[in-house]
Amino acid sequence: MNKEQKSEKLAALRLEAEAGGGKARVEKQHAAGKLTARERINLLLDEGSFIELDKFVTHRGTEFGMQKTKAPGEGVVTGYGSIDGRLVYVFSQDFTVLGGSLGEMHAAKICKVMDLALKVGAPVIGINDSGGARIQEGIDALNGYGEIFRRNTLASGVIPQISVIMGPCAGGAVYSPALTDFIFMVDKSQMFITGPQVIKAVTGESVTADELGGASVHNTISGNAHFYAADEHECIAQIKQLFSYIPSNNLDGAEIVEAGDPADRLCLELDEIVNDDSNKPYDMSEIVRGLADNGQFMEIQSNFAKNIIIGYIRLNGIPVGVIANQPKRMAGCLDIDASDKASRFIRFCDCFGIPILTCVDTPGYLPGVSQEHGGIIRHGAKLLYAYSEASVPKLTLITRKAYGGAYLAMCGKAMGADTVLAWPTAEIAVMGAQGAASIVFRKEIDQADDPVAMKNEKIAEYEEKFSNPYCAAARGLVDVVVEPHETRYYLIKSLDSLLSKKESRPGKKHGNLPL
Ligand code: HXC
Repeated sequence: MNKEQKSEKLAALRLEAEAGGGKARVEKQHAAGKLTARERINLLLDEGSFIELDKFVTHRGTEFGMQKTKAPGEGVVTGYGSIDGRLVYVFSQDFTVLGGSLGEMHAAKICKVMDLALKVGAPVIGINDSGGARIQEGIDALNGYGEIFRRNTLASGVIPQISVIMGPCAGGAVYSPALTDFIFMVDKSQMFITGPQVIKAVTGESVTADELGGASVHNTISGNAHFYAADEHECIAQIKQLFSYIPSNNLDGAEIVEAGDPADRLCLELDEIVNDDSNKPYDMSEIVRGLADNGQFMEIQSNFAKNIIIGYIRLNGIPVGVIANQPKRMAGCLDIDASDKASRFIRFCDCFGIPILTCVDTPGYLPGVSQEHGGIIRHGAKLLYAYSEASVPKLTLITRKAYGGAYLAMCGKAMGADTVLAWPTAEIAVMGAQGAASIVFRKEIDQADDPVAMKNEKIAEYEEKFSNPYCAAARGLVDVVVEPHETRYYLIKSLDSLLSKKESRPGKKHGNLPL
């Protein structure tokens, strides 16, 4: 073979690999409203930045006719490129090649990009579209998943890992996404451990794949996913937006941008939100947006456990993770799902050095048998653990109620909050005045000529004494009582002063977070 023929061979091999499963299967993919593995990468990465690795990797299967089966690219496209100029490693499963099924060498390609990403400190984005373990490869396929899971775990907290579900993701395959930091799901994609047919056979339940593990289910009921998109273009835009808030690894900080919004801007609209009726619901996200640079708030898990809000804003150009009670949902009570949602987010922010802002208006943990039996003690403890453990700058703003255990669980001073701001409408107490008065003054109320009048009097007395920010301020548990319109200014000043914060923790292998 002369030099020219060698070049022709390379070109032919490249074309063969790039054709994936061939024209018919690509057309089937498009007809299902799905892009191909390569189209997805091209859309995700900066134009022309993708460098492909392992294009010519092939499987070593011999069973069930595999020795005669070609699998171009081994059913997964891998490599690196950039998003907004920042290095990122990617893998994108190719459903047109053996249904994107994962065999030994498919897994090896994924493991290689994960290893490289970890070495250089760059995020990994994995696009999942696969029939799961390649049935013809048996144990080699299973072992491949194991190799990926272990790497997911070792990379956790070192580099951000993002999973994108754009097709089926079934069986044990779901555990790689579950071990990563964020899961994006596109409408009509699915994640489940056991599919509808197995469920029908074992439990007799009838359910469609979408009802079982569709994008909507995981974004609203199970809480397994963080973002829902109607189509793949919307999904990729969401990934890029999230990417802008998070750093590339646990040592680099997140990117600080030009704020484009004055640090001393008075937020006069915030003065109108909390009024004299302390039980009136309001939308906490209005406060979050009001405080944020240019009113921009990227909410995460917006349809799951809506009684708590999490997401990213920027304050004077600095990315900040927000955890906020939502008084218009269950009065902002904390429950099992809210505790899980917030705790995991706090830990992500802490791993990657992103400061935390906690906005508090909660009457407490949700009372009820189902919550107690569901383990609210264990789940609620995650919040205390996550806040106590976090050593990033921690800012807390109490807008109204901060009662009892929930006062602490929402990053009260004792949890290591660096700055606690409170509005004049804040009510910081061991419990609400109604409940407190009927316990503490029960005898006086029972013995009074007019028990109702006496109860109201005692409630008013308790409110006057404790349901305000000044008792906490008198102990230094609130640092500054601020007017709503001054809050952005104080938060930015505080954040600025805390950027060089260094806090060490006792040496240990790792803690034992209540799971
Ligand atoms: C090998 C597979 C495959 C697999 C699909 N294909 N899944 N090949 N191993 N796991 C092949 C099909 O044979 C077909 O090949 C092509 O991919 C496209 O599949 P279709 O069935 O035609 O596509 P569709 O109708 O869209 O259905 C997609 C699907 C279905 C829902 C994913 O293929 C399916 O149910 N697959 C099996 C899912 C499964 O049980 N996986 C194993 C899970 S156990 P041709 O040549 O006809 O185009 C597991 C354990 C992991 O993953 C444990 C880790 C701890």
